[in-house]
Amino acid sequence: MTTFRKVNIIIILLALVIFLLVLHHNLLGLSNILKREGSDLGFLKLQHLDFIPDAPESLLDDKTEQEIPVVLTAVEERLGGIVAAMNSISTNTRSKVVFHIVAANNTVDHLRAWLSGTELKNLNYKILDFDPQILEGKIRVDPEQPESIKPLTFARFYLPNLLPDAEKAIYMDDDVIVQDDILELYNTPLNPGHAAAFSEDCDLISAKFLVRGAGNQYNYIGFLDYKKERIRKLGLKASTCSFSPGVFVANLTEWKQQNITEQLEKWMKLNVLEDLYSRTLAGSITTPPLLIVFYKKHSVIGPMWHVRHLGSSTGKRYSPQFVKAAKLLHWNGHFKPWGRAASYSDLWEKWYIPDPTGKFSLIRRHSELVDAN
Ligand SMILES: *[C@@H]1O[C@H](CO)[C@@H](O)[C@H](O)[C@H]1NC(C)=O
Ligand SMILES: *[C@@H]1O[C@H](CO)[C@@H](O)[C@H](O)[C@H]1NC(C)=O
Ligand SMILES: *[C@@H]1O[C@H](CO)[C@@H](O)[C@H](O)[C@H]1NC(C)=O
Repeated sequence: MTTFRKVNIIIILLALVIFLLVLHHNLLGLSNILKREGSDLGFLKLQHLDFIPDAPESLLDDKTEQEIPVVLTAVEERLGGIVAAMNSISTNTRSKVVFHIVAANNTVDHLRAWLSGTELKNLNYKILDFDPQILEGKIRVDPEQPESIKPLTFARFYLPNLLPDAEKAIYMDDDVIVQDDILELYNTPLNPGHAAAFSEDCDLISAKFLVRGAGNQYNYIGFLDYKKERIRKLGLKASTCSFSPGVFVANLTEWKQQNITEQLEKWMKLNVLEDLYSRTLAGSITTPPLLIVFYKKHSVIGPMWHVRHLGSSTGKRYSPQFVKAAKLLHWNGHFKPWGRAASYSDLWEKWYIPDPTGKFSLIRRHSELVDAN
C-alpha cells in the first residue's frame, strides 16, 4: 500500500515538473523581442485635421485615473462593428478609456445618434474628422473602381495628428471585440527607440493555426516586390516574418521624433510611382509601408491580444476554449460578424447594441428573407 502511495506521489511530482518546464519554455518563446536598430528618418510636417467637439464628459469617477486613448475608425456600412468594439472595451476595464473615433463626415450624425440613444451614451468619446485629401498622390486609385480605396484605413498612419496630446495610444480595427482589461494591452512595454508594438504573423499561435498556402504570405516577400531595385536596396530580409497592422500600441513621442508619418508617406508616394508592393499582396495595402518603416524596429504585443483571422477559414480551426481565452478577437477576412457565416459571431453579438435609428441591422440566417428586400 505505502509503496503504491509513494509511487503515486512521485508520478504527480514528475508531472508537475514537466508541466512547469513546458510552461516556462512557452513563455520564453513568446518574449521574442526584436532588437533596436538605428534609424533613417524623414521630416515632420503636421497637418491639422478638423476636430468635432466632444461628447459630454462622463461620470466615471469609480474608474482609475489611468486614461487610455483608443483610436477606431467609423465607416457607415460597418458601424455595428465599432459599437460592439466600444461596448466590449469599456465593459471589461476599470480604466478610463477615451475613444477617438475617426469618421467620414457622412457618418458622424448616425454614429452620434446610435451612441447617445443607447447605454453607450456615457462613454468618453471624441469624433475626429479625416480629410481624404491628405492622401492625394499617395494612393493609387483604380479608375474602374474609385470606391475600392478606403481612405480611413490610412488614418492609423496619422496618429500624432489625430491625438496631438497623447503620449501613448492604441489603434484597432473596427471588427474586433476585447474580452479582457484593455489596460493590459496599453501597458505593453515598448523598447527604447520603438514607436509601436504589433502582433507578428509567426508567433506561436499564428504558426499553429495558419495554413501557409503558397508558403510566403506571412513573410516580407508576400507584401513587397523584391524584383524592384528600390526594395532590394533596402536590404530587408525577404523571409522576415510580417506583422499585422490591425491592432497596435504606439508611443507617439517616439513616432514624432522618428517622423514615422512622413516616412510612411514617402513609401506610399514611391509606390504610386514605382509599384513596389507585391502583386499578390497577402494583406491590406496599409501593411507594406509599415513593414518597411518598422523593419526590426518594433516591439510585440502578447499573442492573445490579437487573435485574428476569425473572418476567414482559419477562424474555423480555433477551438471554443481558445477563442474564449483570447483577450482580443479580430474578424479580419471576408466574413464579418455582423454579416452571414462568420465563425463565432455569437461571441461578437453579445457586445452588439442594436441601432436605435434602425439604419443598421445584422444579417442573420433566420432573417435572410427580410434582409434581402
Ligand atoms: C524629423 O523631421 C524634422 C523636421 O523636418 C527634422 O528636423 C528632424 O531631424 C527629423 N528627425 C529625424 C530623426 O530624422
Ligand atoms: C464632407 O467631406 C467632403 C469631402 O471631403 C467635403 O467636400 C464636404 O464639405 C464635407 N461636408 C461637411 C459638412 O463637412
Ligand atoms: C515614449 O518614448 C519616449 C522617447 O523615447 C520615452 O521617453 C518615453 O518614456 C516613452 N513612453 C512610453 C510610455 O513608453
